[in-house]
Amino acid sequence: MTFSPNFLWGVSTSAHQVEGNNPNSQWSEWEAAGRIKSGERCGLACDWWRNAERDFDLACSLGLNALRLSVEWSRLEPREGHWDTHAVARYRAMLAGLRQRGIRPFVSLHHFSHPLWFEQQGGFLGRRAEEAFDQFTRRVVAELGDLCRDWVTFNEPNVYAALGYVLGEFPPGGKGELVRAIRVLSGMGRAHARAYSSIHQLQASAQVGWAHNYVVFQPATASGKLDRLAASLAAELFNNSFLRVIEEGRMAFPLSLANGDLAQARGTCDFVGLNVYSRFHVAFDTSYASQLFGRAFVPSEAPQGDRGAENPYGEAYPPALRCAAQRAARLNKPMYILENGVPDAADKIRPWLIVHAVKELHDLIREGYDIRGYFHWTLTDNFEWSEGWRLKFGLYALDPATQDRRPRSSADLYKTIVQANGLNRDLLRRYGTLPLPNGG
Ligand code: BGC
Repeated sequence: MTFSPNFLWGVSTSAHQVEGNNPNSQWSEWEAAGRIKSGERCGLACDWWRNAERDFDLACSLGLNALRLSVEWSRLEPREGHWDTHAVARYRAMLAGLRQRGIRPFVSLHHFSHPLWFEQQGGFLGRRAEEAFDQFTRRVVAELGDLCRDWVTFNEPNVYAALGYVLGEFPPGGKGELVRAIRVLSGMGRAHARAYSSIHQLQASAQVGWAHNYVVFQPATASGKLDRLAASLAAELFNNSFLRVIEEGRMAFPLSLANGDLAQARGTCDFVGLNVYSRFHVAFDTSYASQLFGRAFVPSEAPQGDRGAENPYGEAYPPALRCAAQRAARLNKPMYILENGVPDAADKIRPWLIVHAVKELHDLIREGYDIRGYFHWTLTDNFEWSEGWRLKFGLYALDPATQDRRPRSSADLYKTIVQANGLNRDLLRRYGTLPLPNGG
């Protein structure tokens, strides 16, 4: 199963999770307020602000030809209108360092974190959000555009809105605020559309997209009408709402009542980035009114990585890539898998997941889907938002205290796949079946 010679094999990261010691974002405030479930601190994270190059060398040793990172708005513009030239220089050095290693950078402009001053203005509910994000975008492209042409405006608007306004897991910690969540998505849709056209004005060769998180919502019972309804509501809200903003320039009724004019967003992407991790089963449950009566759960027999502090992370489900690609293909744009992975400290099911993900992509491409790259989440264990260090997604295990990195067996497996530019029967035979729970 060989891929095209231009296929991108990468890893994805985000600034807050890897850079360390950034005091100016709403996530630093969230952490200071004791909202990290494990009580841990992000601290040095993976120490990228001082030495991202150590991980770039690891990426290079795996043979990767692409890497996705994000720039931290709160570093670049710590006070509104005030630019930090040292931060600009550091990002320039990082992007140049990647290019010197033959690694194509994909840059996300917003990956969940932004400056405190922006949060204090209401984040993406604020009146000036679109303008502020546009000015930031223009400046980033002016400063870094000679080193990068692949831009991801937003990482997962749907996750940002759901966790920040419905589930209370991300700042600002809103719970059950569905209407505000829809307005946040709309604000991000408008900001995305404006950034899309600004980037193209400044850089003719730019490729601009966003990263969309796609979850498979499986009705708990096939025959139960209410379970089916709850699962399809969850899918409409989570999977389809922002996609429709870009696809059609509007959301479906009645969500459309909450969001004003989105027509300018229609068609504003050159590629669709897909972040795909899991499947949840959904049962209709009257005690879950704030989540539109859908109780999401993972059956105990389903393959799973490690659990979060309070919730399961989701069923590890490689066919989710197919569901996501089928849905996103309706936009008729090239696709990149910009994230896929599993929290798995012991590396029990990650090799299985990687092999099946790659096989699924190969099948999809053979069937005609225009998928141009796979970015594994992630290279080195990093700071997993409100879960802290607990969930370990790295091909390399990290000890945050010593900054020592140790390859998990998946690092070697991924390297073999990348260097062969595909999969062979031997890998499929070795990793194709799930290890038995008792280790047999
Ligand atoms: C996010 C990452 C996160 C990963 C694993 C994605 O939704 O973009 O920042 O670390 O999932 O949970």
